Amino acid sequence: MRAGLWTALGALAISAIAMPAVAQSDKTVANLKAAYIGESTASAKYAAYARKADQEGFGAAAALFRAASLAEKIHAANHKSELADLGVTDPKPGKYTATPGATAANIQDAFKGETYEKDVMYPKMIKEAEAEGQDGALRSFTYAIEAEKQHAVLYAAALKELATVKSKATYFVCPVCGSTYKGSAPTDCPVCARSKDEFIKVK
Ligand SMILES: [Fe+2]
Ligand SMILES: [Fe+2]
Repeated sequence: MRAGLWTALGALAISAIAMPAVAQSDKTVANLKAAYIGESTASAKYAAYARKADQEGFGAAAALFRAASLAEKIHAANHKSELADLGVTDPKPGKYTATPGATAANIQDAFKGETYEKDVMYPKMIKEAEAEGQDGALRSFTYAIEAEKQHAVLYAAALKELATVKSKATYFVCPVCGSTYKGSAPTDCPVCARSKDEFIKVK
């Protein structure tokens, strides 16, 4: 009887150790909601910055803001779709209601925002999605962080060029992951493998 009990307890202990953890999504859902607000706000803000850059005659900067605005819209849609998969069907988007200042300051603000997202926000969200085994959210966050890294580089370059370049620029945005390229699209998207033909051209 005693041996049987110990055996049963032992088996229970082993099964408790071996049993896969029940999938958690609390942190991932909160992160997707926050990222959805962040991306939808950024998309609206960059659209406003693009209009301001056009008014100031900075066509190339305006094109970058438009391309990044589109990329953030794609990220917002990806996050929203992952939220729906986790049972959240009506997340609240963010808004941008401020009046933009000068383009140079707007580029600096955008660079700061991208840097925070790529260095702080998304790395934490990615870690938590991994810990909770949420592969869909993990993909959505990874698509976003890869594009934000590109945006930070592009904004830094745009700031340097601002004083001398008032002309035009063309950008290509991946419709799936929001990857953003200046001048021409890569043959296949290096982040999500989508074909070059499907990239969206932004001027
Ligand atoms: Fe971005
Ligand atoms: Fe892509």
